[in-house]
Amino acid sequence: MRWRHKDLLDLDNLSAQEIELVLQSALSMKEVLFRPIKKLPTLRGKSIALMFYENSTRTRTSFETAGKILGADVTNFSVAQSSVNKGESLLDTAKTLQAMNIDLVIIRHACSGASEFLAKQLKAGVINGGDGQHAHPTQALLDFFTMKDRWGEFKGKKVLIVGDILHSRVARSNALGLKKLGAEVVLIGPPTLLPPEMGYLGVRTSFDLDSELPGADAVMALRLQMERQQSGLFPSLREYNRLYGLTRERIARTGKDTIVLHPGPLNRGVEISSDLADSVQSVIEEQVTNGVAVRMALIYLLIGGTSNVMA
Ligand code: CP
Repeated sequence: MRWRHKDLLDLDNLSAQEIELVLQSALSMKEVLFRPIKKLPTLRGKSIALMFYENSTRTRTSFETAGKILGADVTNFSVAQSSVNKGESLLDTAKTLQAMNIDLVIIRHACSGASEFLAKQLKAGVINGGDGQHAHPTQALLDFFTMKDRWGEFKGKKVLIVGDILHSRVARSNALGLKKLGAEVVLIGPPTLLPPEMGYLGVRTSFDLDSELPGADAVMALRLQMERQQSGLFPSLREYNRLYGLTRERIARTGKDTIVLHPGPLNRGVEISSDLADSVQSVIEEQVTNGVAVRMALIYLLIGGTSNVMA
């Protein structure tokens, strides 16, 4: 199968076969990460711009690492020191970078739809590194890679996604993709953070974590966005932790060798206990490593053309 997309904005327009292509390509890329010399000439002469209008540790660093391993030139566009502070628009900024012959733009922005807006305007490819509450497709793909690495396939697997579903781009992209891959997905959270309209994702929802735990193959905790407490969306961190916090005791109730995921950054002691986050069931560090491999695969698929990846 050949890759046919200029951009990666969300998972809704990828087929299950295309998602599998990304995961398969990432498997070859991961092997490169463990070589003594982690450098390929594959994308020599290609250039990538990272435009991060929101904070990021994992996504920004792993894209930068991925691009450099593949031999591309990576420009880290710093919003704080740019002409954005003089009022330059998102589009003018991106067009300025494109005029420097950039091949690929990776953008994170607080506004849902920012990456789609750029993709429509630019000849360069665009990857969504997280836009508002809408989508975080590369996070979901690295989550799938991590699950597939453990399971081999998705059919018959039960995945719980727990927490602030309403505001989570990670939950949306994961639900969309996992459904296509054939997994059973349950979105779980308090009613204020899991309104009925989330049903549009076509997966089951529940307010009761404990009743969903038996049989779960993976449980993903989402970061509780602390600013939500001020909006009165849950009574207290203690109450939230009592009902939805992941602990070793809770995970033992699955009755399975369940894996525990978290996209990061973690609020230890709130959505996940420290001892569970650091336990053998936690794949949080694997997710970070796999994030580099998956982003290498995506960069290669979008701008690698016909070059031989391992050359
Ligand atoms: N998971 C994730 O997007 O992390 P960062 O905000 O650190 O990029």
